[in-house]
Amino acid sequence: MRKNIVAGNWKMNKNVIDAQQLMAQLLEYKKENATNCEVWIAPPALYLMMARDIFENNEVGVFSQDMSEFAAGAYTGEISADMLQSIEADGSIIGHSERRQYHGETDAACNKKVKAALDKGLIPVYCNGETLEQRKSGKHLEVVKAQTEEALFTLSAEEIKKVVIAYEPVWAIGTGETATPEQAQEIHAHIRSLIAAKYGQEVADEISILYGGSVKPDNAKEIFSQPDIDGGLIGGAALKIEDFSKIIEGFNN
Ligand code: PGA
Repeated sequence: MRKNIVAGNWKMNKNVIDAQQLMAQLLEYKKENATNCEVWIAPPALYLMMARDIFENNEVGVFSQDMSEFAAGAYTGEISADMLQSIEADGSIIGHSERRQYHGETDAACNKKVKAALDKGLIPVYCNGETLEQRKSGKHLEVVKAQTEEALFTLSAEEIKKVVIAYEPVWAIGTGETATPEQAQEIHAHIRSLIAAKYGQEVADEISILYGGSVKPDNAKEIFSQPDIDGGLIGGAALKIEDFSKIIEGFNN
């Protein structure tokens, strides 16, 4: 079901004390404030069980930053969908551009990961987006189309409805450069139209498409007000409760 979502991707930040403190602050914030969106976090894998304990009543969704495409076995350093399900995680980010850039992740692998997540009842948050060069050469629509098709279009209509998509232009991640609300809206509408062409408008209208890339307290509201933008995947600004809560409030009137 299409929902408004603000998700924090903590990346490789915070020791256990700091992680616990931010989770406690977030729990307090959620208890004291009604929010017009779901709030999710993706802390480092090491802290997922702690997160599940702290958010025991699902006040905040608990996501991993990545997961394996394989079920089990000799894959040192990896975590599986089954492990995530067993600690009652809600889902996993899949295909983040940093995984693509530093760990050679491909859309073919993302496709397997998305399926592995869905098979275990987890929500995949599938990320895509173009590089600066691809945007400059006018290929951004084409690139995002190819990514979306390769990673997602083997799914059934029932399956794809359960996926959350995060459009994250690589040139806007951690750079302080944000896509303008119009640039982001153009791609979000494009992704939704691709899904509509393949699965029908009704299915496309059920999918939440988040924007990621330098979302901050002062630009969140405008970005979230675009018709095809259903929330954000937030990196740097998810690491402080003051900033993250203001972004969540981007959904308040
Ligand atoms: P950023 O990261 O908000 O720090 O740009 C976004 C992301 O990578 O998910």
